[in-house]
Amino acid sequence: MTDLKPVEWRSDRLIILDQTRLPGEEVYLEITDYREAVEAIQRLAVRGAPAIGVAAAYAVALGALSIKTTVKAEFVVKLQKVIQAISQSRPTARNLFWAIECMEEIAALGKDPGSIKTALVEQAVKIHHDQVQSDKQLSLLGAALLNEGNTVLTHCNTGALATAGYGTALGVIKQAFAEGKKIRVIATETRPLLQGARLTAFELKRMGIPFTLITDSMAGSLMRRGLIDVVMVGADRIARNGDTANKIGTYSLAALAKEHALPFYVAAPMSTIDFSLASGEGIVIEERSPDEVTGFQGLRVAPEGVQVYNPAFDVTPYQYITAIVTEKGVIRSQFEKELLKLA
Ligand code: MRU
Repeated sequence: MTDLKPVEWRSDRLIILDQTRLPGEEVYLEITDYREAVEAIQRLAVRGAPAIGVAAAYAVALGALSIKTTVKAEFVVKLQKVIQAISQSRPTARNLFWAIECMEEIAALGKDPGSIKTALVEQAVKIHHDQVQSDKQLSLLGAALLNEGNTVLTHCNTGALATAGYGTALGVIKQAFAEGKKIRVIATETRPLLQGARLTAFELKRMGIPFTLITDSMAGSLMRRGLIDVVMVGADRIARNGDTANKIGTYSLAALAKEHALPFYVAAPMSTIDFSLASGEGIVIEERSPDEVTGFQGLRVAPEGVQVYNPAFDVTPYQYITAIVTEKGVIRSQFEKELLKLA
């Protein structure tokens, strides 16, 4: 089985596996213009916080390569326009802004446009490489939390597709399975865009990990019947007190897990942690098009003209989180103090 490559850099272009077409078709987009990368991020052709960060870094590199001037001051102004467009693609995933900040730091060090371009391409490749490493490390640490015979509920898609690496919550599950633990997975379909039904099911099936797909609203009933042992999810942005933004529906799962005394784990790389935010109050939650709720893939379900609210994420307060798994360590309490120590 070949590794999934949702994002790949080929000398001067970005190759993106169009996740909107999965699992039906494996279509790769060949991107040479940073504006196409922005569009791919906006329409979720590439998605999942870490993969968005990797794609954003490559988009900055693409934008830099297209700037023609040899005058540094002019180059810097044009690069800023590129960066601004990329930073407006999606608001919630911290990794997007983290990756852009890394790229800006590199650009600031360069002497001339030529050397800055080379350094930016190298930095984007490094961000991607580091993502793969941190995924592997956090998956190893997280796998220790899963016991033989556990049934693990996961939400949205947090696998290779979502990170351009090994995965976060799904990486933990993959690692535990690879270690020979007999675990089963309950994957929520993840309304409205079905990242669970389309993408997590696709990844789990490819890997031969036993799983059952449920609708989001079935989770509580399964917990009550004792059919779930652990909840393991990813994150889009974690405030320094541990409050966690993740795919809409995550908070409901956390509240249900608390009610049923089940451990609720969040797995995410350090690049998802936003140390500038004291709590989840400050996290900007993306609101997406009503069309995503009134229908699916062009098929209208709801009547015309209905009022829709479509937040893509919610915030789970830290009190609901049993532990946060990062590549630097697993923390169970005093999140603010412990996260700062890890950083
Ligand atoms: O809207 P999406 O598909 O980008 O949302 C993705 C999620 O919410 C994931 O759970 C999160 O990014 C963690 S991915 C490792």
